Amino acid sequence: MRGLEMKGVIFVELIGWVEETFSPAIADAMITRADIASGGGYSSVGNYSHHEALALLVTLADLVERPVADLAQSYGCWLAARFAVLYPEMFEGYADAHSFLRDIDGHIHREVQKLYPGALTPRVLATTDGPNMTLAYSSHRPLADVAFGLITGTIAHFDEDFEVERDASIAGSHEARFVIRPGSLTTGG
Ligand code: HEM
Repeated sequence: MRGLEMKGVIFVELIGWVEETFSPAIADAMITRADIASGGGYSSVGNYSHHEALALLVTLADLVERPVADLAQSYGCWLAARFAVLYPEMFEGYADAHSFLRDIDGHIHREVQKLYPGALTPRVLATTDGPNMTLAYSSHRPLADVAFGLITGTIAHFDEDFEVERDASIAGSHEARFVIRPGSLTTGG
């Protein structure tokens, strides 16, 4: 169903992350135990219900005894590094994390939509206030923890020193606000 489907690349990478971070056996167990319609044979050009991604993460949480939110965030962080390998052209011309993150809505996810017609990317709006940047995430998908990881992973990719704090006053996973501040190495604090 349109609106639920998410691009296969996100699923292929999720399995790859579990294999690398945990083990191929855990990845197999996750796919077998999660009650998913596709059976786990993902293709990066296919489309699958985003509920499958959540079902896989919930099953993994059970298998490795870690909170789902933690795992979703770790996956997002790993995924940012993979995006740099899979889509190097999207990183071209960006010298730092701020300019890249500022352009997710206006450029990066637009390129994604050209590459994958029908992609329904989330809104990721940036505002700056002096040295701080705020990113507001909103989506019909409850993937704010993945967004958190993608942001920290992007900062790591650019090898920069920023701290990312999630605004605790916003509940739920469809919306989130992240404040990115210069890290302690930069501020000397
Ligand atoms: C070169 C960098 C990036 C690429 C290639 C990329 C690509 C994609 C793709 C292919 C999807 C799936 C869309 C769909 O299935 O309809 C997606 C969704 C998503 N993107 Fe990006 N993305 C990038 C950077 C980022 C960054 C830095 C963030 C940080 C906030 C982000 C946040 C998300 C989230 C959270 C989703 C999941 C779908 C949702 O929440 O609605 N992306 N992205």
